Amino acid sequence: MTNEFQFDLSLQVEQEILAKIAAAENEATLEVIRVSELGSKGRITTIARLIGSMPPELRKHNGAIINQVKHRVEEAIGARKKELKERRIAEETGSAPGAITTGVQSSVRSSIGKSVEASIPQTVTVTTTVIRDSIDVTLPVRESAAEVGRVHPITQVIDELTAIFADMGFAVAEGPDIETDDYNFTKLNFPQDHPARDMQDTFFFNPKPDGSRLLLRTHTSPVQVRTMLSQKPPIRVICPGRTYRSDSDQTHTPMFHQVEGLVIDRGSHLGHLKWILEEFCKAFFEVDRVKMRFRPSFFPFTEPSLEVDIQCRRDKGEVRFGEGDDWMEILGCGMVHPNVLRNCGLDPDEFQGFAWGLGIDRIAMLKYGMPDLRAFFEADVRWLSYYGFRPLDFPTLAGGLSS
Ligand code: DAH
Repeated sequence: MTNEFQFDLSLQVEQEILAKIAAAENEATLEVIRVSELGSKGRITTIARLIGSMPPELRKHNGAIINQVKHRVEEAIGARKKELKERRIAEETGSAPGAITTGVQSSVRSSIGKSVEASIPQTVTVTTTVIRDSIDVTLPVRESAAEVGRVHPITQVIDELTAIFADMGFAVAEGPDIETDDYNFTKLNFPQDHPARDMQDTFFFNPKPDGSRLLLRTHTSPVQVRTMLSQKPPIRVICPGRTYRSDSDQTHTPMFHQVEGLVIDRGSHLGHLKWILEEFCKAFFEVDRVKMRFRPSFFPFTEPSLEVDIQCRRDKGEVRFGEGDDWMEILGCGMVHPNVLRNCGLDPDEFQGFAWGLGIDRIAMLKYGMPDLRAFFEADVRWLSYYGFRPLDFPTLAGGLSS
């Protein structure tokens, strides 16, 4: 087989095929043409196979030609198919046909030139308005606009824990993301220049004339201060919100979320705190029982301070709660330090209370099996439509939190 011969064959074959495609009167005929040319035993496929056995100097040239022919034939079949389908729909919906010039003709013309044009019908009758207006009843039902959006897992988890604590009589308190150094640190019993401040490095604003600097709050604990300064005990609040630290890796982002809890009354004690946290964990992780472990720790604003682990089982990267004999740390807590009560105008001999702080992102990752925290804040719609929640399924204790 010579180079010359192969080229002639290609041109001749192409013209013949394109003319047949343009003349096909229905989709079935077009399919027969497609199989006979491009099917596994089709003419073009067979010629393409021959290329492989040619000597290398012929292979490259002929291979390129046959690929181009194949491509043009595929395009022509696709365009003709679309056209025939539109015509069929127009006929089925009983529209009055009108004449339009078709896409097949132009693609055939551009690929093989004038000689073929003569053998192709110039028009196909289709009514475009009817095609646009016709309804394809085989398509899936479209969701209503209110169902299409998704609730971010963080919002979902905040709604879940609000439902749980509201059931125990807690109100929701809020504070600003931009906080004073005084509320974020000093009133919470972090002395100036104390190393505990270094553990919560954050983003500072330029100093004011008096030397004080606003900052992005490093935790939700300043909302404790705001609440004690503005309300009289008994106090029972949770404070969910955004917090900031200069930190970034797979499990830390510069912005993250916490929920603070605060109870101040005359007779509040650690037993109450333990019961509340246990009830919360059971309800949140939707398990019947959960073992918890309270370890001594240090926070400037609580005395004694504790860290809480919950019982879990780690299984091939998955974590299950309420079973197993492993432990996972989930929060910090303690009895509110007398200095903090005093700083907020309360007499520690009259009132006492407890507080806790919990990372929302972390419990969301644990509950819903999301491995990388950074994805939470990348605004990727594909991630959100996978991990997000249906907007009208608002979490309640009676109706189910996450179902
Ligand atoms: N604010 C602490 C932190 O971000 C968490 C915390 C610990 C809050 C103990 C509390 C608490 O209210 O009692 O690391």
